[in-house]
Amino acid sequence: MKISQRAQQLQPSATMKVSAQAKQMIADGIDVINLGIGEPDFETPKNIEQAAINAINAGKASFYTPAAGIPQLRTAVAQRTTRDYGLQGLTAQNVAITTGAKMALYSAFQTILDPGDEVLLPEPYWVSYSEQIKLAGGVPVSVPVDESFKATTADLETKLTDKTVAFVLNSPENPTGVIYDQQELAALNEWTKQHDLMVITDDIYGQLVYNGASFTSIAQLGDELDPRIIIISGGSKTYSMTGWRMGYVVADERLISKISAFLSHATGNPTAVSQYALLEAFTGDQTQTEVMRKAFEERLNTIYPLLNDIPGFELKVKPQGAFYLFPDVSEALKLSGIATSGELVSRLLAEAHVALVDGSAFGVKNHVRISYATDLDSLKTAMARIKAFMVQFKD
Ligand SMILES: Cc1ncc(COP(=O)(O)O)c(C=O)c1O
Repeated sequence: MKISQRAQQLQPSATMKVSAQAKQMIADGIDVINLGIGEPDFETPKNIEQAAINAINAGKASFYTPAAGIPQLRTAVAQRTTRDYGLQGLTAQNVAITTGAKMALYSAFQTILDPGDEVLLPEPYWVSYSEQIKLAGGVPVSVPVDESFKATTADLETKLTDKTVAFVLNSPENPTGVIYDQQELAALNEWTKQHDLMVITDDIYGQLVYNGASFTSIAQLGDELDPRIIIISGGSKTYSMTGWRMGYVVADERLISKISAFLSHATGNPTAVSQYALLEAFTGDQTQTEVMRKAFEERLNTIYPLLNDIPGFELKVKPQGAFYLFPDVSEALKLSGIATSGELVSRLLAEAHVALVDGSAFGVKNHVRISYATDLDSLKTAMARIKAFMVQFKD
């Protein structure tokens, strides 16, 4: 048997791993609350499910589709991006539909990176970026930022080399929930332009913003989409469609044609029935998305104070988007004598039966990620369990 060097280097997704562990414990009859995975707990809205059933009944789900997706869905994504981002001139040729936003990112990295190309990743960064960059032969370069969790041009400048080709921006951000404002984005945009860098903007949480916050994408600063900018998004989070695996890339059409060629060899096409479901999500009734957004907002507003009430857990700035909290647990480690945030996460799973993710998976020590994409009662119970776990170390 042989395992490639590439595969040997590969780390499994930490979020999926912890979630699998939690699910196994639940299957074994242990009452675990899983705050480890970024997956909305709502069933996909009925109109979307019905559109998929209709597509199957009409025989549309049986066959291959074009590699970059059915034309009507590509058009719907182009129109929606035109509307939401205020960009002119986008057509179906600027869109590739992919198997989840994960494949959108993967195909983008495969299409823009040459061996040794460096990509800037502000810390903390979502777990799959670094592995996907490596799989494309690139080099992920993590960029430390201050506790606002927002990268500035000064931060990026410290890691810029003549091999830097791209910068990944995720706002609202997983795992911190921070949102970059227009001024911050304008500065970053100018800087990347100066250095001729590609920008991959992962806007998957763009519609999940709370308490009056608003979302601007770095892609919408001009009248037209800058050929240096690649937009990544999808249906997973906004429409609670994680299982359907529907994502997309919006970019310059020359890039999309290469992404499409790549996808034609990689996935063939994204699952046909899911494409009809996303088409309904984008063109049909939007009532449920607001119901879900409001539920996340209520959860955030409920657990944020409960979290800060846990001895040793500190999150100074309240997140504005996505569905995660990323508290600093340095004090909790001191208080408990537990050596690392990884060990804290293991102890919380084993003893308090709450699954979280170690911040190291996102490139940052002494932090943990808490997903609040679960019901309020479970969230309150989870916070109470973590508090009880920590209180035992006081005095
Ligand atoms: C920042 C970010 N980008 C992309 C994805 C992937 O989304 P999908 O489930 O559509 O592949 C996730 C999922 O957790 C995410 O958090």
